[in-house]
Amino acid sequence: MKVHVFKSKEMIDQEVATLIVSKINAKPNFVIGLATGSTPLGIYQELISLYQQNKVSFKDVTSFNLDEYVGLEKMHPQSYRYYMNHHLFSKTDFNVENTFFPGETSENYDLLIASKGGIDLQILGIGGNGHIAFNEPGTSFDALTHETLLAHQTRLDNSRFFNSLEEVPTKALTMGLGSIMCAKEIILVATGLNKAEAVKSMIEGDINVNCPASILQNHINVHIYLDEDAASLLEGN
Ligand code: F6R
Repeated sequence: MKVHVFKSKEMIDQEVATLIVSKINAKPNFVIGLATGSTPLGIYQELISLYQQNKVSFKDVTSFNLDEYVGLEKMHPQSYRYYMNHHLFSKTDFNVENTFFPGETSENYDLLIASKGGIDLQILGIGGNGHIAFNEPGTSFDALTHETLLAHQTRLDNSRFFNSLEEVPTKALTMGLGSIMCAKEIILVATGLNKAEAVKSMIEGDINVNCPASILQNHINVHIYLDEDAASLLEGN
């Protein structure tokens, strides 16, 4: 794991977006794994800005999102399809036909990813309980894309986007830890004090299903981008 600590979230957003753009320019039919939530919003804004400056085209890029709620209409404002259309796809030249979500296709998601050549770069956030995608503590490290129950903490965390906790779906479809570990390269971004414990367990703890993100220690090409708050509990900080 290579850990990069930045002074601000804005610096991380710029760095990661610039990196993504340089990779797409080197390989226009790039396959990218995308996350939702608060963490990648700034990166997506930077990507839109670089697109508007004609520094990149996404027209031949294929994307695979990590997860999607079960039980929300595709166009529900809190569905992850809606989020991606709204925050990235509709503001760039992504070909929506090349953007995939678990549950939207009848094909097996992991086989579909493999048929496109595998994910070149996976973008990840991390939950306060150490989850990545919706792989909650206790999920098998070998799991491929599957349906899962959301942890109470995750529903509470995500209730900020809904009118009430009751409206937050109880289930989601998610790429498994085994699916994520197949990505050729992984960038995980975490900012804020509320991520500091999970970040410490991920980087310095044992590899243990209680912290799903700790499996990333076994991946050969992982970059962790942190702000000073998220890095604050790491040894040497
Ligand atoms: C979202 C996802 C989740 C989030 C995590 C952090 O697609 O897979 O694992 O990355 O819950 O969420 P935020 O960024 O809102 O703190």
